[in-house]
Amino acid sequence: MQATAIAQPNIALIKYWGKRDLALNLPAVGSISITLDTLQTKVSIDLDGWLANDSLIVNGVEDPGRLSRMTACLDNVLGVKRPSALIETQSNFPIAAGLASSASAFAAATLAAVAAASIDLDTQSLARLAGRASGSAARSFFGGFAELENCQDAIKLSSLCDAESWPLKVVVAITETGPKGTSSTEAMEISRKTSPFYSAWIERQVDDLATARKAIEERDFTTLAAVAEHNCLKMHSVMWASRPPIVFWNAATMRCLQTVRRLQQDGCHVFFTIDAGPQVKAVCQEEDMAAVRDALSKTAGVLEIMTTGLGPAAHLVGKS
Ligand code: PMV
Repeated sequence: MQATAIAQPNIALIKYWGKRDLALNLPAVGSISITLDTLQTKVSIDLDGWLANDSLIVNGVEDPGRLSRMTACLDNVLGVKRPSALIETQSNFPIAAGLASSASAFAAATLAAVAAASIDLDTQSLARLAGRASGSAARSFFGGFAELENCQDAIKLSSLCDAESWPLKVVVAITETGPKGTSSTEAMEISRKTSPFYSAWIERQVDDLATARKAIEERDFTTLAAVAEHNCLKMHSVMWASRPPIVFWNAATMRCLQTVRRLQQDGCHVFFTIDAGPQVKAVCQEEDMAAVRDALSKTAGVLEIMTTGLGPAAHLVGKS
């Protein structure tokens, strides 16, 4: 009754912001993402039931603050009559800092829980279960480029292109290492209720998804770059216009954007994207990675740089 799974975080190029059903955690819009390679979260789940209650250990330290969300995830996956679980998670990158650590953690936890309980589920069902815990986690069940379609009563996941077929690189500029102040769920609800741009954001998503889907199919970097940057800035505009305003950026975030613009003017194939945190992810072609890395590492306020390629789907690494 023990299993271990690894999942990579994924970064949305066409983003999900807003929920249409809070209880079922259904997104208000579809999204398209890339699953990363070297960043990863490993989750081990022990369902032997020798504990009175669930216990969560995050990076070697007991973490009661994050336990209730993990317990809710396991209740949803296995039912509330399950044995109590010992859950150990290990991430090799900063967590809760806008680097999609909840996506990799809940994807790996869902997969490990199902394997530990010897339940047989297809990828679509696993992705939907993980999506209940964290909307973006569903996408980590697909490697490379994935699309999450927002269908009438459920989400539907599909692969648009595998990692090897378009091996883009991602340079992550860390501008703050502490955890973010507002959770994505909380921030999305503030936007839904108060941002005057929210309805326009929802209405235009279909067009951005179609543009990105076609660009990925045709490996058209320039078109993908333009629509991904537009979609990212549009999502942050929705947040900035919320009341109270939601601003995840800091001064270094803005300086990284200027660095990316300068690189583009110099002919580099690179574009930026930013999630619910101050980190900047620069997506680029392999031949431009060294220049992008070099320029971002010299940008004032950048504390650390991580580089990664596109990676695999969530996978099981052990079961006993
Ligand atoms: O999966 P959540 O509920 O943490 O929301 C993720 C939201 C964004 O990262 C900002 C966008 C996305 O589609 O991943």
